[in-house]
Amino acid sequence: MTAIYPGSFDPLTNGHLDIIARASRLVDHLVVAILQNFQKEPLFSVGERAEMLLESTSNIANVEVDSFSGLLVDYADARSARAIIRGIRAISDYEIELQMALINRRLRPKTETIFLMAGEEYSFVSSRMVKEIITLNGDVSSFVPPTVAIRLLRKMKLENRPPAAASAL
Ligand code: PNS
Repeated sequence: MTAIYPGSFDPLTNGHLDIIARASRLVDHLVVAILQNFQKEPLFSVGERAEMLLESTSNIANVEVDSFSGLLVDYADARSARAIIRGIRAISDYEIELQMALINRRLRPKTETIFLMAGEEYSFVSSRMVKEIITLNGDVSSFVPPTVAIRLLRKMKLENRPPAAASAL
C-alpha cells in the first residue's frame, strides 16, 4: 500500500520526521509530497525543502520525496495511493484537518485520510514558529533536524541578518 504524506515542509521539523518514521512502518511505500504553492511566499524553495527531506530520511528505505501542484486527491490518484497521512498536534489542528479530510473524501472517496497523533515531545512544534524563532535570533536546534538548523542559519546569514547564532557557522 502506498500512502502520501503531503505538506509545505517549510521547513521540515522534528514533528514531521516523527510522523514520517511512524507512517513508514504502517505502509509499504510512503511518498512525502511537498506542495508547490505559488501563492504562499516560502522561506525555502521546493528544491531546498526536498534536499532537507532527502537528507533527513535517507535511513528509511520505503520513503520517497516528491512534490506536487494542483489537488492533492488528483496527485494521490496519479500515484495510486490509497491513503493520505496527516499529523495532528493539538485540538486546534483538528478542525482544519477534519475539513480537509472531508473535502478530500468527497472529491475522491477511495482515498482514506489517516491521522497520526504527533509525539507529545513535538506537539507544540510548527514550521511557522521555527521561522519566527530563527528570525528573532533564537535557538531552533531542538525543533528541527541538524541539516535544517544549519540551512536556517545560513539563510539568515545570506539575508544579512546579524543573529548571534549565525556566527557559529
Ligand atoms: O503543511 P501544510 O501547509 O499544513 O499542508 C497543507 C496541504 C499541502 C496538505 C494542503 O494545503 C493541500 O492538500 N493542498 C493541495 C490543494 C488541495 O488539494 N486542496 C483541497 C483540499 S483542502
